[in-house]
Amino acid sequence: MVKAVVLGASGGIGQPLSLLCKISPLIDELSLFDVVNTPGVAADLSHISSVATIGGFVAAKGDFKGEKQETEDAKKEALTGADIVIIPAGVPRKPGMTRDDLFKTNAGIVKDLIVAVSKYCPKAYVCVISNPVNSTVPIAAEVLKKAGVFDPKKLFGVTTLDVVRAQTFVGEIIGEKDPRKLTIPVVGGHSGATIVPMFSQAKPSVKIPEDKLDALVNRVQFGGDEVVKAKDGAGSATLSMAYAGFRFAESLIKASKGEKGIIEPTFVYLPGVEGGDAIAKKTGCEYFSVPVELGPNGAEKAINILSSANDHEKKLLEEAIKGLKTNIEAGVSFVNNPP
Ligand code: APR
Repeated sequence: MVKAVVLGASGGIGQPLSLLCKISPLIDELSLFDVVNTPGVAADLSHISSVATIGGFVAAKGDFKGEKQETEDAKKEALTGADIVIIPAGVPRKPGMTRDDLFKTNAGIVKDLIVAVSKYCPKAYVCVISNPVNSTVPIAAEVLKKAGVFDPKKLFGVTTLDVVRAQTFVGEIIGEKDPRKLTIPVVGGHSGATIVPMFSQAKPSVKIPEDKLDALVNRVQFGGDEVVKAKDGAGSATLSMAYAGFRFAESLIKASKGEKGIIEPTFVYLPGVEGGDAIAKKTGCEYFSVPVELGPNGAEKAINILSSANDHEKKLLEEAIKGLKTNIEAGVSFVNNPP
């Protein structure tokens, strides 16, 4: 029995993500929570003739801070017994906003939701999508630490969309019709220049023409801006993010059921994952997205590919680490020295 929970299920990411979860043969029970509309989304999805049963839980009307008893009860019911919690709750980016501009609002939302996770399903895998992931994952970790239930192997920042974009954009350049056949590690963080695609470590190896490399790196780092601009004020990536979030959740569930050899880049607390300490020491960052071997306990092993970076990637990594340190610190101090 696998129970999955989507927090922020009525949103642009939450709805297609919930749809993918509802039709997945890997999920037996799906539970949706949001501050609006969740019973409607759940009722709609419930008509789909797939395996997963579905429940929709909504916060008390007008209660955005989760202070009312009805909201607490809804969270409790939604989360109790969860094996995996996926969190796309928050506000999306508008044109001109960076992911970091979202910080203030989304930091509070994630903190509040993780408090509920720590109470009602402390052993669940937690997959954070709410941006800026570089800061919201440290926020989640600090909240779980304070509650005494932090298991670093079970907390993930979802960076899969960066991998998905890298696969797609490289596929376009080299003429690969099925980009999923390309394994392209993307490391670092999940915002602009903190994102580092490592094409030198692609499998099978890919040859990117010299004159296309800078534009390709830039497109992977800032691909989200293309979507924000094209949506013209209506938000940021939702459908591709839902796909990426589901793809990561699916890998985690498969690994939890014993499937071997599943490796996904994901943003983790390095000192708590085997092999991660060396990467933390080398980068000076406690949180980093690296390829992680997934297993029944979650993040079984962090794989250090950073030492194989070529000169171009080393420069990108230096730049990424600078930004990432600031983002991580912002998340940690949001919990420990509240504004
Ligand atoms: N608890 C639960 N759900 C919440 C809360 C909360 N405290 N606050 C907001 N939400 C819900 C909103 O009601 C909405 O349904 O989160 C959902 C967010 O949906 P959208 O506004 O459509 O935003 P979306 O495009 O899905 O992006 C959500 O994911 O990738 C990130 O940058 C993105 O941080 C943003 C988040």
